[in-house]
Amino acid sequence: MAKLPILTAPDPRLKQKAKPVERVDESVRRLMDDMLETMYAAPGIGLAAPQVGALKRVIVVDVAREGEEPQPFQMANPELVWVSDEDANYEEGCLSLPDHYGEVARPAAIRVRYLDAQDEIRELQAEGILATCIQHEIDHLDGILFVDHMSALKRNMILRKLLKAKKQHALPAYSAAAS
Ligand code: NI
Repeated sequence: MAKLPILTAPDPRLKQKAKPVERVDESVRRLMDDMLETMYAAPGIGLAAPQVGALKRVIVVDVAREGEEPQPFQMANPELVWVSDEDANYEEGCLSLPDHYGEVARPAAIRVRYLDAQDEIRELQAEGILATCIQHEIDHLDGILFVDHMSALKRNMILRKLLKAKKQHALPAYSAAAS
C-alpha cells in the first residue's frame, strides 16, 4: 500500500464528476487500499478518489472511534437507493478543506448499493455519522464539497482563506522562514 497526496480546495479537479469503474479489478483494489491507508494516516473518516486525483467513483469510509475495532468500507460506484425523509445536522470537515468545519443537513438514514473490493454487489443501511460520511463522500464523486451545502457567504469565506493559505505555502522556503 502507498500513501497518496490529498488535493486541497480550491482545485478544479475537486469540482469534476468522477466516472464509474467497469469492475473492481486489481488496479481498483490497489486504489482502494492506498486510499484507506491515506485516510488513516491523515487521519480522516472518509476519502473519495477525486481527492487523490483519481476521477473514479470509489470511496473509503471508517467511522470507528479511536480504541474501537476498525470498520473499513471500500465502495465502488456507490449509489443511494433510499434516503429517509428526516434530516440530521452534523458538523462536517473534509481532508480537502483542512481546518474548516461547518454544519450540514442531510438525510439521517440511507441505503447505499455498491461494489465491494471483491467486485460483489452489496447494500448497506446506515444512519448517524456513517450515513453522513457516505453521503459526503458520494458528493465528492459529483464534484460537490460540503461547503457547497452552505451559504455562498460562508463558502466564499472558507475558500478565500484556503486560497490564501495555499499561496503562503507556495512561497520559497527562505521567505517563509523570514516572516
Ligand atoms: Ni471530504
